[in-house]
Amino acid sequence: MCGIIGYVGEKNASSVIIDGLKALEYRGYDSVGIAYHTCNRIEIIKAQGKIANLEKKLKKYIITHYGLGHTRWATHGKPDEKNAHPHRIGKFTIVHNGIIENYESLKQLLNGYKFKSETDSEVIAALLDKLYSEKNDILKVLVQVKKLLIGSYALGIICDDIKDTIYAIRKDSPLIVGINDGGNFIASDVPAILKYTNKYMLIGENEIAEISNKVKIYNDNLELVNKEIITFEGNIESAEKNGYEHFMLKEIHEEPEVIKKTIKPFLQFGLDSLKENMPDFSKYHKIEIIGCGSAYHAGLIGKHLIEKYGNIPVTVHIASEFRYQKVFTDEHTLVILISQSGETADTLASLRKVHGMGIDTLAIVNVVGSSLAREASKTIYIKAGPEISVATTKAYMAQITILSLIALNIGYTNKIISEKKALEIIDSYEKLPSYISNMINIDYKKIAKVLAKKNNCFYIGRGIDYALSMEGSLKLKEISYITSVAYPAGELKHGTISLIEKNTNVIAVITDKNIADKTINNIKEVKTRGATTIIITTDKIDNEFNPADYKIVIPTTNDFINPMVATIPLQLIGYETAKLKGCEIDTPKNLAKSVTVE
Ligand code: AGP
Repeated sequence: MCGIIGYVGEKNASSVIIDGLKALEYRGYDSVGIAYHTCNRIEIIKAQGKIANLEKKLKKYIITHYGLGHTRWATHGKPDEKNAHPHRIGKFTIVHNGIIENYESLKQLLNGYKFKSETDSEVIAALLDKLYSEKNDILKVLVQVKKLLIGSYALGIICDDIKDTIYAIRKDSPLIVGINDGGNFIASDVPAILKYTNKYMLIGENEIAEISNKVKIYNDNLELVNKEIITFEGNIESAEKNGYEHFMLKEIHEEPEVIKKTIKPFLQFGLDSLKENMPDFSKYHKIEIIGCGSAYHAGLIGKHLIEKYGNIPVTVHIASEFRYQKVFTDEHTLVILISQSGETADTLASLRKVHGMGIDTLAIVNVVGSSLAREASKTIYIKAGPEISVATTKAYMAQITILSLIALNIGYTNKIISEKKALEIIDSYEKLPSYISNMINIDYKKIAKVLAKKNNCFYIGRGIDYALSMEGSLKLKEISYITSVAYPAGELKHGTISLIEKNTNVIAVITDKNIADKTINNIKEVKTRGATTIIITTDKIDNEFNPADYKIVIPTTNDFINPMVATIPLQLIGYETAKLKGCEIDTPKNLAKSVTVE
């Protein structure tokens, strides 16, 4: 997500702001900018890519005592200089974190204003300028703007007429005010100011902050309010993780919010928005899904749901294999490519291979403006926000949610799912964030203790449960370094069961009630040979005959949301085991967040 820093004080504002932007880099960004007051005017400098590109453009020895900085994580418009913040229109310069949902309709009020960018943020600067030209009272204008904006925003604002002062307002996006004798700050969060102060206050959603050599906070009636000054006790690193020990844990805890953001464009107006915002799949008789690692595993989840409910054959390929194999596709084939980064070399090569054959492609990606997003015929963006931990969690969760929605959309369009059933399923998605939160709050340490004792582990499952077990196995092995293998449960007796000995750990994912007893039998088979058995199952399948040594019971829901609910224990078992083993969780050895080479 975007990062905001603003400063007013005795120090050189440009260097304070650059320091703040560097402390916000962990949030992920693809362009960066700064605005500062110098020689009686506001100067703006922006750069695509990293802060170093901005620093190259900065003039040396600038004398400036107030300004704004911004790292942009693109949501509207490509990650380029034109769309980078700060944005300036008329007398107003702003930086924005969030999404303004009604920016198009607000443009109707702004005839005569010219926009240089594709962003929703630039509209805010024009709106401020227009209202100020009519009212000439900045505080009243800010009260009015807060009433007009629909969506989420954290805003840093400079008005030419009011020197040495920054204003700030927020809704849903975080923003704090940093307090220091030599100067005051606004910032998206604490790391940005820690080099200069650990004292800050929170801005309420119904408040306006006025920052100069003193700090004033007004309520919506423009009465001054007293705010508690908070002292941050930790260091920069702990601040970046919002107090979580690892980014991976923080990103798992973000999953309920990510689910809400991912489903909103498709389900906020029920079936109408699903139909309107999903691509048209009606001309495709076959779907090929391509990805690497967890993205491949997400594709396997999509396969099971799209085949079962969309009645379309789906083949899932590992991108590094697909790019070299003979490809049988035609104009009725859709190729879906899944990638969090949108830059994975093998997945990109696969896209270019099928594009060369004139095949339609749909990219499901997280990073706006990434290569895959730019080159695919169509793109669905997941709303996971920057994912820092190498082991993907929230992005995988958003990927399988999108694939589940695609299955629902195709099933409903092909009249395989009735309108009544589709509406019930849509209802269940609304409940999904709370199911996810409940699963996050279970303690998985007992199971982690069992797994940490051995250096190998088997995950088994049938059908969609096998696809889930593959993701669980990858989560465990890539961060705990335990040799973990996911196996189709029915395959055990064709060779692998020879490896089962006393205390071998076997985890079974059993959420499909139609084939549950088969996998429960496999658990009995390995248990008689000495294995320690763990079952992840639903409350409908679980009963007093459950043979497992340990069990995690998830609520019984439906095929469309069950994969997301079952994913939480798989992610947290991996996390807790790695933590127990003292592994470096966010940056596992030998791994990169995005594999941009073959
Ligand atoms: C998953 O935890 C790993 N980080 C890895 O398997 C990852 O899913 C894979 O490299 C694909 O990355 P992408 O989604 O950015 O293409």
